[in-house]
Amino acid sequence: MSDAVIDVSNLVKTYSGLRAVDGISFSINRGEVFSLLGPNGAGKTTTVEILEGVRNRTSGEITVLGEDPEKSRSLIFKVGILPQDFAFIYNSTPKEALDFYKGTLRTSSDLNEILEMVELEDKATTPFQKLSGGQKQKLGLALSLVNDPEILFLDEPTSGLDPRARRNIWKVIKTLKERGKSILLTTHYLEEAELLADKVAIMNRGKIIDAGTPMEIVERHHEDDNLIIRGDGGVEQLLSTGGFQFQREGSYVKVNLRNIKDATDVINYLYEHKAKFEDFTLKRESLEDVFVRMVGEIEEDETE
Ligand SMILES: Nc1ncnc2c1ncn2[C@@H]1O[C@H](COP(=O)(O)OP(=O)(O)OP(=O)(O)O)[C@@H](O)[C@H]1O
Ligand SMILES: [Mg+2]
Repeated sequence: MSDAVIDVSNLVKTYSGLRAVDGISFSINRGEVFSLLGPNGAGKTTTVEILEGVRNRTSGEITVLGEDPEKSRSLIFKVGILPQDFAFIYNSTPKEALDFYKGTLRTSSDLNEILEMVELEDKATTPFQKLSGGQKQKLGLALSLVNDPEILFLDEPTSGLDPRARRNIWKVIKTLKERGKSILLTTHYLEEAELLADKVAIMNRGKIIDAGTPMEIVERHHEDDNLIIRGDGGVEQLLSTGGFQFQREGSYVKVNLRNIKDATDVINYLYEHKAKFEDFTLKRESLEDVFVRMVGEIEEDETE
């Protein structure tokens, strides 16, 4: 039996002729963090909101915990939602908001524990309009946790957060994963997906153009690995004589490697010829490098 908590097959959503979601399929297993990535307007929020039951689909089959979100009246008690651009009644405090959700969703969750988890205890009685952008985002996340959901839909949970607050949200997401939650996460921060997601799907113009683990995607699309060496002109001269391909970038020399194992040949060669260099690092392209090229290439093809 499949362990999928979310199943999407041939999902289509059109807005007056625009195919915002154009026949996508994927599934998310229990306990998995699945990240939908893609440029602005790719169709991520539309997809997420269809799964939440907030928007209706044009066609396709979807199940969330075995139910159709368009028809189900019980999913609201089993899923947690942090919408993109979350907002709340401007003069309500986080404590009031949490109490309200707790009453509506009829749960026995410990609200203090939730406030502590998202690090918002000291703002529990501050009106919503006086919270900073990041604090508002944290409240949104806190509210999504009130019903102790099996599945969480987090649409750009860390957008606009400072680096420390972002790391704190990452910690919360990791804790939730450890507790067995399944999470659908959208983000524009590729390093976030690389760090948190078991699987990612890259969307562009309504279609999934590739999916897999972050490592599989990098493996499939990365260009040459590079050896980055911090050294002077002497290093360049030696590399030229040795017939290596390289470019200077600021105080670094970037040597292109056809195979990552060739790095030892370059270093041995430089040592043998007593080159003066300070340090070196091996660099494989990141998910972001690969993503930018994949999405960029499609845009270029379509404007030709
Ligand atoms: N309610 C709507 N009515 C008409 N068009 C819409 C509506 N909502 C979204 N769209 C269009 O559908 C496409 C996909 O939008 P969506 O919000 O799903 O993208 P996204 O991937 O979430 O983008 P972002 O990264 O900017 O949040 C866009 O072209 C958008 O203009
Ligand atoms: Mg969006």
